[in-house]
Amino acid sequence: MKLLVIGGGAREHALAWKLLDSSRRRLPATVFVAPGNAGIELEKDLKNVPITAVPDLIEFARKESIAFTVVGPEAPLAEGIVDAFRFAGLKIFGPTQKAAQLETSKDFAKAFMGRHGIPTADYATFSSATKAHRYVDKKGVPIVIKADGLAAGKGVVVAATLEEAHAAVDKMLGEKQSGKAAPKIVIEEFVEGEEISFIVMTDGRHVLPLASSQDHKRLKDGDEGPNTGGMGAYSPASSITPTLHGKIMREVIQRAISGMEKEGERYIGFLYAGLMITPGGGIKVLEFNCRMGDPEAEVILLRLKSNFITLIEHALSGNLDKIEAEWDRRPALAVVMAANGYPDSPRKGDAIEGLSALPATLPAERDYHVFHAGTARGGENGEEIVTAGGRVLCVAALGDNFRMAQRRAYEIAEQIHFDGCQMRRDIGYRAINHRK
Ligand code: AMP
Ligand code: GLY
Repeated sequence: MKLLVIGGGAREHALAWKLLDSSRRRLPATVFVAPGNAGIELEKDLKNVPITAVPDLIEFARKESIAFTVVGPEAPLAEGIVDAFRFAGLKIFGPTQKAAQLETSKDFAKAFMGRHGIPTADYATFSSATKAHRYVDKKGVPIVIKADGLAAGKGVVVAATLEEAHAAVDKMLGEKQSGKAAPKIVIEEFVEGEEISFIVMTDGRHVLPLASSQDHKRLKDGDEGPNTGGMGAYSPASSITPTLHGKIMREVIQRAISGMEKEGERYIGFLYAGLMITPGGGIKVLEFNCRMGDPEAEVILLRLKSNFITLIEHALSGNLDKIEAEWDRRPALAVVMAANGYPDSPRKGDAIEGLSALPATLPAERDYHVFHAGTARGGENGEEIVTAGGRVLCVAALGDNFRMAQRRAYEIAEQIHFDGCQMRRDIGYRAINHRK
């Protein structure tokens, strides 16, 4: 059996690793990852495929008789990779370009939530800077300014002062590039509360919720410093009670999936809702993503006990209601090791040491994994593993409780070294305090 994963970060490393692990319980398999990274290549039966253009990927999938493809990141979804694969008669798990607008256009997502009664913050959309400035003055601060399109995590400004808010409006609406559509922004009411991630798999009709998880978005300990793609994560998210889980499924997830079907665009794939739980227990959707989170995927997949291939096959055949997912009862925690200069200008080419000499006191191999994100072959002989992106590695571990999972993850991370490494020291602190 041959499978293909699209992407090259730690999330895709985890997807491929779990697919391969699942295949061992059935037929021997090869899992290709396009374009992959240096860590993926280190693993037996995982193979990098150095291509990214959709027509070339289709040709590859045909030539290799790929059973199905799983898409990791949002960019290929926004480009329409799912539409193209399906048109070519190839099986692929992910939403179409139109369905992916839930992530790729903030304006589409907000209007969609309005049409289907999904709770979200009040907002207005602008393409005129003058009108946007007037609106900011009328509403006051704090206020949230969001660029309409994909911005790789950099399109949101939570403004505490009017100066910041006006500057964000100018920055996002200011530079109209010739040949491109005029930019749009969404200005949104600031919502207070506790932020949580909620990720499901769906076949377009039925929903299989994944284990709950929570990431740490800020660069520095104590949730300070600039926003990043995520500096660490843990699962389960201690704040999601069964009651809250039911409410999120009813008010957010089911409405989104049935809303897409009613609008003629069945949503198939992973769906990620970024939510704020308000002090009164209400829910507000901050954003939808059309993919798994990263590093949320790493902790979720470490806890998955069911056969991942079987789950995806059920999703692809519209039978997700006929299967349940089983999770390791132990919590998982992941720590991201990021490059010097991340998130603004990550430095590349620092040699990574210690990857092959992990300590003997560690749990069985299945209880932890070092997932690679921005790594490549380089150095003097071209054979060393060097940093090649903002987030470099993601060390994930299971433990009997959060504290043990945290200790293991840091024990492993401390064996690994590269110059300028940035790593938070407090991943999971909320979950640990919560359990006390
Ligand atoms: P988004 O990409 O929409 O999730 O926004 C990035 C981050 O900005 C979120 O993870 C929140 O921490 C914050 N954020 C977004 N929208 C709001 C809002 N309406 N109120 C408060 N914080 C927000
Ligand atoms: N960790 C947040 C995200 O993947 O969007």
